[in-house]
Amino acid sequence: MFLITGATGTVGREAIDVLVKTGREVAAVTRRPAAAALPDGARVVAGDASDPATLASSLPDGIEAVLLSPRAVGGATAELLALAAARGARHVVVLSASSVEHPAGLRRFADEFKAVEAAAERSGLRWTFLRCADFDANALAWAPHVRATGVVRGAFGTATTSPIHQRDIAEAAVAAMVDPAHHARSYLLTGPEALDQYDKVRLIGDAIHRELSFVEVEPEQIRRAMLGRGLPEEIPDRMLGSLADYASAPGPSTDTVERLLGRPALSFGQWAAENAGAFEPPAGT
Ligand SMILES: NC(=O)c1ccc[n+]([C@@H]2O[C@H](COP(=O)([O-])OP(=O)(O)OC[C@H]3O[C@@H](n4cnc5c(N)ncnc54)[C@H](OP(=O)(O)O)[C@@H]3O)[C@@H](O)[C@H]2O)c1
Repeated sequence: MFLITGATGTVGREAIDVLVKTGREVAAVTRRPAAAALPDGARVVAGDASDPATLASSLPDGIEAVLLSPRAVGGATAELLALAAARGARHVVVLSASSVEHPAGLRRFADEFKAVEAAAERSGLRWTFLRCADFDANALAWAPHVRATGVVRGAFGTATTSPIHQRDIAEAAVAAMVDPAHHARSYLLTGPEALDQYDKVRLIGDAIHRELSFVEVEPEQIRRAMLGRGLPEEIPDRMLGSLADYASAPGPSTDTVERLLGRPALSFGQWAAENAGAFEPPAGT
């Protein structure tokens, strides 16, 4: 059985899909079981991965490996992995970030990922780190503006990264969880092509057959708008810090997905086509 933390997140859901479709058993942790809508076949474990005591009575025996989402587990990596090990776990795969080895953005965010990796290494389990570039799915934050106006307003339009499709991360995570050969390996996972924000908006436009535009505005304006919508300061700090750095020097680009999965990494254009519905204006407008 595979223990999935962050089960209702972008990568967690996709990893559950891959595991269930290949006939494997899944224990999926969520704080909101009623709203989780996880794939049939996944065993839902109600609780908070950042407070492992909430899982102690419901976590089943027979766990083989753990998919660890740092956001979901917070500072409780050691406790969670000790609990999982007591239920049989032998391997942990950490959804880490490219900034751990290619510094970008505020250092404290990379340090949080490093702390999770260090705790996983100390856990005594076999470990694999997936140091991911920014997710294609982060572009969903643009969907309301695209639907309403066809215009995305953002900072640092030339910030360039090689964003990655969540299915590539999920398949790499499953490969690492099932094969001990991935023990003690750190993989820098990126998408196949370097794109700036103008490119991404154009590719979303291609997917929905609509001309869209990206309009660059001052970072401070973006920060104020985010705080005005009630978002915590952490969100603009995280986003604007890394965009500023990626506008000075592009993020990394690797062929690791292809080497791990034996097929090309999925493109941002493919992600946009699969998610076109999120960007299309409601019918009749
Ligand atoms: N987005 C990127 O560009 C990027 C890049 C590199 C690495 N990462 C890392 O990749 C991991 C997976 O990201 P993701 O977008 O798939 O999922 P995610 O946003 O981390 O969320 C996964 C789930 O974790 C639970 N969760 C969130 N915050 C929590 C908290 N404070 N305490 C307890 N549970 C919490 C929520 O599930 P419930 O509400 O169901 O409990 C949420 O649906 C994250 O750790 C992220 O930091 C992301």
